[in-house]
Amino acid sequence: MKNYINGQWRDSVTGRTFANINPAQTSDVIGAFPLSNADDVAAAVTAASSAFKAWRLMPAPKRGDILRIAGDIFTRRKDELAAIMTREMGKTLAETKGDIQEAIDTAYYAATETRRLFGYNAPSEMNNKMNMSFRMPIGVCGIITAWNFPIAVPSWKILPALACGNTVVFKPSDDSPYSANIFAEILEEAGLPTGVFNVVHGNGEAGSAIVEHPDVRVVGFTGSTTTGNAIAARCGALNKKVSLEMGGKNAQIVMPDAEIDLAIHGVLWGAFGTTGQRCTATSRLILHAAIHDTFIAELTKQASELVLGNGLTNAAAQVGPVINERQLDKILSYIEIGKSEATCVLGGERDLAGENANGYFVKPTIFTDVERTDRIFQEEIFGPVLSVAKATSFEHAIDLANDSAYGLSSSIYTRDVNAAFRAIRDVEAGITYINAPTIGAEAHMPFGGIKGTGNGHREGGWTVFDIFTEWKTVYVDFSGTLQRAQIDNY
Ligand code: UN1
Repeated sequence: MKNYINGQWRDSVTGRTFANINPAQTSDVIGAFPLSNADDVAAAVTAASSAFKAWRLMPAPKRGDILRIAGDIFTRRKDELAAIMTREMGKTLAETKGDIQEAIDTAYYAATETRRLFGYNAPSEMNNKMNMSFRMPIGVCGIITAWNFPIAVPSWKILPALACGNTVVFKPSDDSPYSANIFAEILEEAGLPTGVFNVVHGNGEAGSAIVEHPDVRVVGFTGSTTTGNAIAARCGALNKKVSLEMGGKNAQIVMPDAEIDLAIHGVLWGAFGTTGQRCTATSRLILHAAIHDTFIAELTKQASELVLGNGLTNAAAQVGPVINERQLDKILSYIEIGKSEATCVLGGERDLAGENANGYFVKPTIFTDVERTDRIFQEEIFGPVLSVAKATSFEHAIDLANDSAYGLSSSIYTRDVNAAFRAIRDVEAGITYINAPTIGAEAHMPFGGIKGTGNGHREGGWTVFDIFTEWKTVYVDFSGTLQRAQIDNY
């Protein structure tokens, strides 16, 4: 398994590698991938810089044709790629297929946007003069992403970046490198010119080499708030554009008038889908006191019936393993913190039954009696752990939901239209769902969060094009005379 630089599959300059392990079966080593350093990154940036010269001049709709073909190839390779993804990062096949579908949707959306990429024009202050503006590509984009969506999240950044005429150096997570190589294969088969897209594997060493390289003009990052903030600080010092998608501590509120079964299904999917390893995962449940006890009884019963297992060998599996030993330890230590702060009503331990002992499985865990100051209410755990707090009113519920350093996703279950619209207005989050769980963003809508989640950018939808373009303003003076703005016209 190699890096993909300038259309060639290459080992790291030093020859060093790291192992890619199946988290559901840790004896299954998927392969050794290059542990890259600044020299590998420099080679990729050189390729991307040189490819930019021609790629930026290709008419945008022609670039779109390549993205559309990439969408077709993702569709053709969906089942094969889903199996690779499940093997390397553990979520179920239904979920890895969904991950790829998100990239397919993004590919087709970006392809059609290449026929828009609208600019603005506006009247001039002067006669015989026209004012207009265009979106321009920026150059080499460094894309650094997490492992929980090995194809979808990279696609949100890479495909719009390419649509706009930029070139890319992509460093995937070292927990999901294989999927990134398939991404490269697909773009190559779609007809992307050599050097426009490059993959450099590795850890933080390669990541920071991307951030530091003077020819990388834009950095797009999805991952932890700690790493993201460090990247933002460096990008600030280096005067680079940076888009961050970081942590979340997303709350689902359930009001007494809600359709309770629907709300239970929502929180089961939001909290334990992807084993809770989404930045959008429901990690806080805020229940109105009037329904709290009956809701918890039924939720706990249904959550206890979720089947944990290896998505490749157990067709019944609904919840996969967590990604690696480090995350396993972190989640288990948060569970211990939770036991000292609140009441554990379900799970609370690793699953070592049968074949699950071969992987990093953690039982779906629910804590009740959680207070707003508890660490399990405030800190991102990124695992199958749900913290439940009780609210005595709508205002109290909103206040609890907003008591967070993060602001990505949010949800309220209610049949009261007034309460729904007040939540839309008052919940501090980039995304609010009404009668739906906190997960499930669609590719053509803006995605991102406020407070500690992001830095003001939105991926997905039309807003992603603001990250990957700079505006060029053009004034055309066809008067044949010198017209001095602000002077000759007043
Ligand atoms: C993430 O966890 O980084 O809305 C992204 C969702 C998915 C994307 C999650 N479509 O949950």
